[in-house]
Order: sequence, then structure tokens, then C-alpha cells
Amino acid sequence: MNAPLDHLYPVFEKMLPRSAKETLLGQSGTVVWMHGLSGSGKSTLANLLERRLHADGRLVKVLDGDNIRSGLNRNLGFSDEDRRENIRRVSEVAKLFAECGVITIASFITPNNELRRLARDVIGTDDLLEVYIKASFETCQERDPKGLYAKVAAGEVKRFTGKDSAFEEPDHPDLVIDTEACNEEECLARLLDAVLRKTAGKATDA
Ligand code: ADX
Repeated sequence: MNAPLDHLYPVFEKMLPRSAKETLLGQSGTVVWMHGLSGSGKSTLANLLERRLHADGRLVKVLDGDNIRSGLNRNLGFSDEDRRENIRRVSEVAKLFAECGVITIASFITPNNELRRLARDVIGTDDLLEVYIKASFETCQERDPKGLYAKVAAGEVKRFTGKDSAFEEPDHPDLVIDTEACNEEECLARLLDAVLRKTAGKATDA
């Protein structure tokens, strides 16, 4: 439930503008939002992409589901309501980073189109590159990088995405990276290309 905004006086126009920060960094802030099942390759690709962009002299921040859920969002679980609050908060945080000129990679299951729309509404289309990291439930189950799928099969994890909590195929992602069809290097190259095109398309007025 939204708290009332009574007696709040947010002032944005007196603050140093975003463009000053983008000029300082020589880059444009952008959010790369990766969604997909647990084990689809989001975190792996987010970390590779961060290192590659960093090596090219860009400032990047990764926001990752497991990390954020062990800090900022540690009070949230996996009910529909908590997943929504998780995505809402992370969207706001990603927006703050982008407004500082940082290339922000958000890596969250984001299991349905309503939540993907929420992220887009908060961040804004100009600042968002939405990427579906695609792999089937069966493939993710075989990979099982964290041993979670084994726990799900043993009945130890409830409300698991793709099992007893729904995962909806995305409507209109800007990019689909199929991690069953491409190897890591190919996936990274496609991602990098899309990110560079997105940021070049809104070059700073530096
Ligand atoms: S989201 O649905 O709210 O977007 P988020 O990406 O933050 O999910 O967190 C997913 C991560 O939490 C998974 O990668 C996994 O490691 C862990 N996790 C623990 N329990 C669950 C669950 N029931 N469903 C999905 N992921 C879970």
C-alpha cells in the first residue's frame, strides 16, 4: 500500500543535473534489465558484461537478486506481493544509479510482464534495455548452479519460479539472449553490442 505523500516537498530542479555527472564520466546512464529463470545465466552474463565494460573504461554497477535480497530487500520473500516490492525497490535504485550516469545491470527473475512493465514505468523507456535471458526450466534444472533445483525437487523450497510460482514468457523484450543456443562468448558479444548501441544512441552532450 502506498503511504500518503502529504507534507513531503521533493525538490529535484535545484540539484546538480544528471548531464553534469554524465559529462564527468564521459558516458550515459542506462539500465540493462536482465530477466529469466534462476539458472538461466543472468548473473554469469551480468558479471562478464560488467568486467568487459569496466575494462573499456566505463563505470558499471550490478544489482543482483541474491545480493539485494540479502541486504536492502532482506525482509522480502517470494509471494507475489513481495516479488512486486522487490522489483519496485530495485527499479527505483537502478534509476538512481542511471541518473548518476552509471551503467546499471539489474539481474532479477522478474517473472511476469506486469513486473517488467513496472520496472519500465519507474526507469523510463529511454534509459532501459530489457533483455530476456532465455533457457528452459529443464535446462536450468540440469545446470542447477546453486543446488536449488535439487532442493525444490526434495520439496524444501516452495513458491519456486517455473515450478509452483509462474514464469510468464516476456511480451516485448528489446533483446533475447538464448543461453541454450549460444555459448558464453557469443551471448556476451551480443549483449555488449546492444548496450553500446543503446548508450551511443543517447550520447552525452559533453
Ligand atoms: S524475483 O522473482 O523477485 O525477481 P529475484 O531475482 O529477486 O526474484 O531472486 C531470485 C533468486 O532467489 C534466485 O536466483 C534464487 O537463487 C533465489 N530463490 C530462493 N527461493 C526462491 C524461489 N522460491 N523462487 C525463485 N528464486 C528463489
